[in-house]
Amino acid sequence: MKKIGILFGQENTFPQAFIDRINEKKQSDIVAEFVSIPQVEQAVATDYAVIIDRISQDVPFYRAYLKNAAITGTAVINNPFWWSADEKFFNNAVAVQVGVPVPKTVLLPSKDRPDDTNEKSFRNLQMMNWDAIFQHIGFPAFMKPHAGGGWKHVYKLNNAEEFFRAYDETNQLVMLYQEAIEFDDYFRCYCIGGKDVRIMPYEPRNPHHLRYATEPKTTGPAGKKLMATVTDYVLKLNMALGYDFNTVEFAVRDGIPYAIDFGNPAPDADIYSVGQENFDWVVETAANYAIERARAHKPGQSNLTWGTFIRNSTQGQGLTTASAPAPTAQPETAPEAAKPKGKKKTSAS
Ligand SMILES: Nc1ncnc2c1ncn2[C@@H]1O[C@H](COP(=O)(O)OP(=O)(O)O)[C@@H](O)[C@H]1O
Ligand SMILES: [Mg+2]
Repeated sequence: MKKIGILFGQENTFPQAFIDRINEKKQSDIVAEFVSIPQVEQAVATDYAVIIDRISQDVPFYRAYLKNAAITGTAVINNPFWWSADEKFFNNAVAVQVGVPVPKTVLLPSKDRPDDTNEKSFRNLQMMNWDAIFQHIGFPAFMKPHAGGGWKHVYKLNNAEEFFRAYDETNQLVMLYQEAIEFDDYFRCYCIGGKDVRIMPYEPRNPHHLRYATEPKTTGPAGKKLMATVTDYVLKLNMALGYDFNTVEFAVRDGIPYAIDFGNPAPDADIYSVGQENFDWVVETAANYAIERARAHKPGQSNLTWGTFIRNSTQGQGLTTASAPAPTAQPETAPEAAKPKGKKKTSAS
C-alpha cells in the first residue's frame, strides 16, 4: 500500500477535497490522508510515498522535515530543495534564457544593511546610478521583494519621488525594480506535473473575491493563438524550473504575454477564490498526478522532480543547451487542457 499525504496550513477547502478525490478513486494499492508527523529523526523515512506540500514556505520546521523525507525516498511535491533555492529575480533570468518574455527588471541592494554588516561589507558595490536605472526601466514601474509572495511590499510607482518614498520603507528587503506591463488581458495559469495547464482569466485590479470573475478580452483567432502561446510559455517555465505544482501569471500587452509571477509552489487553490470549475480541475488533476507519482515511486531512491536548469547544470550545460527530454513533459496534451475557462460567477467567501 502506498500512502499519499498532504501537508497544509490555514486553507480549508483544497486539502480535504484532494484526499477525498484520491480515495474515491478506490485504487487497491493507494490511500491518501493528512500527513501526521511524529518525532522527526535524521535519515529516518516517513510512511509516505508522496507528500504534497502546501505550507513549508511558512513553517521552516516543515521544510526541514520534507528534505529529510525526500532523502529517504518520499516524492515531495514540490521539490523542497529547489523551492528553497529559487526566487523571483533568478526566475526572470530563467525566463529570458528559455525565451519567455518578462518585464525589464533590475535587482536593487536592500535600503538598509543586513544585521551585523557595515559599510565595509559593501566595498564591492558601486554607487547606484538612479537616473540610468529610471531611464532603463521607465515609469510606471513595480518594485517588489525578489523573494516575496502574497502581494506583500508590492509597489506601483509613477515617478522617482514615489520610488524613493517606497524604497525607504523596504528596510532590509532585497527588491526587484521592474517595468509595469499595462495589460489588456491577465491570466493566472495552473501547471500540474509539468504537463497539464489550466489558463484562468484573472483581473488583479478587482477586489480579491472577484479577481477570477472576468473573461479574456482577446477573442477569436487572436485569442486562440494567445492561449497556445501562453500554454507554451507555462510549459517552458515549469520544465526549466522543475515545479510539479505551480501557477504562472501573465500580463498581456500588445498581444505579448509577459510572465509576471511564476514561482508559486503553494498557489491559492481555495474554492472561494478560484471558483468551482477551476477548483474541480485542480483537485482532479492534482489527485491524478499524486497517484501517478505514487505508482512511479521507488522506495529508498530519490523521487524528486528536477527541472532542466538543474539537470543540465549537473552535465555542465546551460539552460539553452539541448538536454535529455524532461520525463514528465507532454506538451502535445496541453492545448485541450489549456482552453480558457472563464468563470461567470464567484461564490461568496
Ligand atoms: N511588472 C508588472 N506589471 C504589471 N503588473 C504587475 C507587475 N508586477 C506585479 N504586478 C501586479 O502586482 C501583483 C503582485 O505582484 P506579484 O509579482 O504577483 O507578487 P506576489 O508574489 O507577491 O504575488 C500581480 O498579480 C500583478 O497584478
Ligand atoms: Mg502573485
